[in-house]
Amino acid sequence: MQAGPTLALPTTSPELTERLLGGLAAVDALLRSVVDHEDPFIAQASMHLSQAGGKRFRPMLTLLAAELGSGVNGDVVTAATGVELTHLASLYHDDVMDEADLRRGVVSANGRYGNSDAILVGDLLFGKASELVAGLGPEAVKIQAQTFVRLCSGQIRDARPAPDGADPIDYYLGVLADKTGVLIATAARYGAMFSGCPPETVDIMGLFGERLGVAFQLADDLLDISSASGESGKEPGTDLREGVATLPVLLVRQSNDPGDDRLKELLNADLRDDALHAEALGLLRGHRAMDEARERTNTVALQARELLAPLSGSLPAHSPAHDSVTALSALVAGVVNRAG
Ligand code: IPE
Ligand code: IPE
Ligand code: MG
Ligand code: MG
Ligand code: MG
Repeated sequence: MQAGPTLALPTTSPELTERLLGGLAAVDALLRSVVDHEDPFIAQASMHLSQAGGKRFRPMLTLLAAELGSGVNGDVVTAATGVELTHLASLYHDDVMDEADLRRGVVSANGRYGNSDAILVGDLLFGKASELVAGLGPEAVKIQAQTFVRLCSGQIRDARPAPDGADPIDYYLGVLADKTGVLIATAARYGAMFSGCPPETVDIMGLFGERLGVAFQLADDLLDISSASGESGKEPGTDLREGVATLPVLLVRQSNDPGDDRLKELLNADLRDDALHAEALGLLRGHRAMDEARERTNTVALQARELLAPLSGSLPAHSPAHDSVTALSALVAGVVNRAG
């Protein structure tokens, strides 16, 4: 059933492993029941991507953040599922925007059911996520709504060039914080909120999640260029084909080296042409801009890890909260070194 990549559990503690696996199983069970529908076609289309797999990175983060407080409970599982559903819905829409045919190792929802149904099923899943989060009270609903607004504004800006006068890299990093960072921030915040953590910890987890989310998307953008076909469960080179300028492309555009002229020319061409696309992807894969983009990704990951420092100060070794901080730090490393 699992066709795309998976994420290794970021801990060696047997107790924490058991609690995380239990939490993830509870999230999956809730997700399965929520995406079901009385109409068999709607049920099938709604389950299409969740059944195909997914790393469950965001629920994992919610569960880990909950370990900083009293641990996983029903509200934490509901919050984690609400976040995963929001993510899932955004994937239905993202594949329409990006004209992607492959997701989680299976044909995308738009490929299988067409754009209209993919958009409507995405909307339906956003509605289900809101319904679920409503059970957690008005504060959670407000956070979910604000998250959704920022996610959509990031996705809208993702498809547009940087406005005149804006630095293209700053603009791009802002788009990443919105389209990806904010939902990962909410995943982390909810975990701390619903396990009774003090407000300072909830705030730290929000800031940590957003930085982690930017690193996550930077790594995803690198994988779009560097991964082999089939490795990520998505089609490599999609960003180039769609003209989404990610960090390595922005760095090449800044280059004054005449040796980069051909690549710069290709990056301005219509890369829906297969031969031009293959040439651009080949040149970019071997380009030093990839190393620089990797370095910048690692820097953002380090910034995320540093945000955890105030949490670990007074914790007794081998307490659940201590194991959680260690695991959160390992999760950051896993994100930037992942293969899918
Ligand atoms: C894909 O997210 C969309 C991005 C924000 C890059 P994931 O890489 O978490 O996708 P799944 O859930 O594992 O399929
Ligand atoms: C999508 O970014 C981010 C969201 C879904 C909000 P991408 O377009 O890079 O995601 P993938 O690579 O298709 O998963
Ligand atoms: Mg995409
Ligand atoms: Mg996209
Ligand atoms: Mg991508």
